[in-house]
Amino acid sequence: MSDSEDDDIPRLSYHTLAALQEFYAEQKQQTSPGGDDKYNIGIIEENWQLSQFWYSQDTALRLAQEVVGAIGEGGRIACVSAPSVYQKLRELHREDFTVYIFEYDKRFAMYGEEFIFYDYNNPLDLPDKVVAHSFDIVIADPPYLSEECLRKTSETIKYLTRGKILLCTGAIMEEQAATLLGVKMCKFIPQHTRNLANEFRCYVNYDSGLDSAT
Ligand SMILES: C[S@@+](CC[C@H](N)C(=O)[O-])C[C@H]1O[C@@H](n2cnc3c(N)ncnc32)[C@H](O)[C@@H]1O
Repeated sequence: MSDSEDDDIPRLSYHTLAALQEFYAEQKQQTSPGGDDKYNIGIIEENWQLSQFWYSQDTALRLAQEVVGAIGEGGRIACVSAPSVYQKLRELHREDFTVYIFEYDKRFAMYGEEFIFYDYNNPLDLPDKVVAHSFDIVIADPPYLSEECLRKTSETIKYLTRGKILLCTGAIMEEQAATLLGVKMCKFIPQHTRNLANEFRCYVNYDSGLDSAT
């Protein structure tokens, strides 16, 4: 083929090509979440109407490692309104624990049997298969920084846990968290994929590595 024929072939500009690639990548995420990407944080986009702010990869990994370290062999983990931690736990490809995702956003029903629909407004409205005090640790990140939301979520946490609690919420909730759940603030500071206006912290009711490092 001569140079002049080559020049006649229509080409997309760099920007159009980049936009197309981005479009196809988004389509792939939305239509075929069954592949290896299934547990990627961000495969389900944040919906700010639902107060969704995902953890950074590092924070999700740190929290996932923390809960695994806090339970014994074959332990059970409940992720309450903390879907990124569930995703990170499953991404670890470990089979030595059981984990459930308690979530209001039904897009997470893509995780099948491990998804449990949960609305903090009805804290104990849970399916029969969810037995009281059957989780070795509960990690929770309530959607709103209000006393009412924390109080109701605390009802769920206390129902689910056998003892250990890891709460992630605003620094301004420290006193209420201590009163409702007997948890204390850790030194570790969770990070999100976007900068949040409010200072976030982790709180625990057991000896945790999150308290020995920032
Ligand atoms: C502040 S975000 C915490 C997410 C966490 N940072 C993560 O990356 O996994 C609050 C979570 O509460 C969920 N949520 C929103 N409305 C809810 C409701 N009525 N009951 C329970 N959870 C709700 C959101 O879908 C979201 O996953």
